[in-house]
Amino acid sequence: MDSEGAILVLRLLHIVAGVFWVGAAITVTFFTMPVVRATGAVGGEFWGQFMARSHFSQVMTAAAVVTVGSGLFLYWDFYSGIAWQLADPGPQTIFGLGGLIAIGVALVANLAFPRIGRRLGQIAELIQMQGAPSPAQAAERTRLARRMQVLSTMTAVLLVVTTALMAVGRYA
Ligand code: HEM
Repeated sequence: MDSEGAILVLRLLHIVAGVFWVGAAITVTFFTMPVVRATGAVGGEFWGQFMARSHFSQVMTAAAVVTVGSGLFLYWDFYSGIAWQLADPGPQTIFGLGGLIAIGVALVANLAFPRIGRRLGQIAELIQMQGAPSPAQAAERTRLARRMQVLSTMTAVLLVVTTALMAVGRYA
């Protein structure tokens, strides 16, 4: 494959994985999670099954890796060595800023979400064995769910910011 073909494939991978990543983050954060919260035990049961059976976390990680990996290659090919100018930003600055935001989001999401999810799963198992949550377990579950909600909202909003920067980058 010549280099023009390789760039085309990278752009395809980058854009398809990127729109999936941001679209899925928006759907889960603003549509699925509020319904899970509003439906109490039924919602909790659904969320547990969803995370266990859909491979959602793994698919999101894969989308983030493909988006960031292909984005870094594209950046390196087009803009490496071109200085950023914040006062009069060109494409290198806009794509670079968008890329940095997405890389930050990918790191935080992949470190924090699995840990919170694992702990919520452990608490759910204990509660199932006991029949009812202890006050400490209920408090921890509420705290973790709240943290998940805040992180998830920040992630989705920042991914929208990245998408906006990607959309205008070439016209800067
Ligand atoms: C949510 C994550 C992301 C989304 C949705 C996204 C989306 C897009 C889209 C739609 C384009 C095409 C823009 C155009 O042709 O005018 C693009 C281009 C580009 N993206 Fe991203 N991107 C994301 C993350 C990243 C990351 C992490 C980097 C790494 C630095 C990056 C680097 C680039 C570069 C350098 C281009 C220009 C490619 C070219 O001109 O052919 N992107 N991105």
